[in-house]
Amino acid sequence: MLKQNYRAWVEIDLAAIKHNIRSLKSLVSDSTELLAVVKADAYGHGAIAVSQAVLEAGATWLGVATIIEGVQLRNAGITAPILIMGATNSPDEMKAIAKHRLQPTICTIEQAQLFNTTLEDSINPLLVHLKIDTGMSRLGTDWRSAKDFIKIVHSLPYLKIHSIYSHLATADELDQSILHLQHQRFKQVINIVKESNIQPILIHFANTAGMMTDQNLHYDLVRCGLGVYGFYPAPHLRESFKSLLSLCPAMQVKARITQVKKIEAGTGISYGYSFIASRDMQIATVAIGYADGVPRGLSNQFLVKVGDRQAAQVGTITMDQCLIDVTDIPDVKVGDIVTILGNSEDNNADRWAETMNTIAWEILCGFKHRLPRLIIKR
Ligand SMILES: Cc1ncc(COP(=O)(O)O)c(C=O)c1O
Repeated sequence: MLKQNYRAWVEIDLAAIKHNIRSLKSLVSDSTELLAVVKADAYGHGAIAVSQAVLEAGATWLGVATIIEGVQLRNAGITAPILIMGATNSPDEMKAIAKHRLQPTICTIEQAQLFNTTLEDSINPLLVHLKIDTGMSRLGTDWRSAKDFIKIVHSLPYLKIHSIYSHLATADELDQSILHLQHQRFKQVINIVKESNIQPILIHFANTAGMMTDQNLHYDLVRCGLGVYGFYPAPHLRESFKSLLSLCPAMQVKARITQVKKIEAGTGISYGYSFIASRDMQIATVAIGYADGVPRGLSNQFLVKVGDRQAAQVGTITMDQCLIDVTDIPDVKVGDIVTILGNSEDNNADRWAETMNTIAWEILCGFKHRLPRLIIKR
């Protein structure tokens, strides 16, 4: 279907993604590689197109959460190393990982042993990444047990340790005490690696917030997600980094006006009449709703753009449609394009997240696949 027939869509600016990769890379030394986190369909942006763009711009690794996400990239012809950051515990999953040359995260000794027996007839050992839990309490072996974990995995003939990593729990917070504690624990693990003489091993620790907060966390590779998509992980990081690190949001969400009508003062709008017209108004119906990923909780609380003119969303957001106040934009007409989620500070994912008391990550991942992803060339 042609764009002119779409009711609503997501626009992805790959030039912005590439710009963000170059900006992020400028913060790390030449010896630190950049892994672009493209899980969850590249935070909703479209994993294949984003992966190709980030690799062209200088990222050398991709990170996904699931095997299916990794296989999708392999099937698209992507040959770069792909780290699966989620856990995989069944022999079938392990065989699929090996078959598609994906690289798994190993979280426990039991999981490593099962991988080893499952892959017994392979010719080459599988490259694996050991996850150490330094304080996130999610995946990985506790840092205090890292020595045995590393030693045992190293002894398994069908596995080859390619990296050791950990994940930060509070890197986007102003208070860095937990980050420092996690780093102290991780440094103990690095010493164990050094003493065990297992080479060469990549060490990695930082997400976007971690890499911005402390360059001592960069090590051999940084794993960046949010920054790739154009957002700073916290207001204080945006303030201190906006002149050093330029990030541009790559996603916009647009929809068409399907009807324009005049209503009298006192008229209720949409389900539940959460908005009553205080004056004679002109309102427009827009073909996007909560089933597309515009949260119902944003009803009556966000601004959209019709061309370059701002309009307030009014009334309860419904499953497939919502309404906007176009009283002051008298010339709007059916078919006009409305920018629902924009890329400027007054209407981007950060603004929505603030209103919804959530995070930009959740807003970006929330747009459903009912909305086609259109790559914008510029
Ligand atoms: C293990 C791991 N590393 C890195 C990232 C990227 O984090 P961010 O989007 O904050 O850069 C994630 C994202 O959740 C993750 O789970």
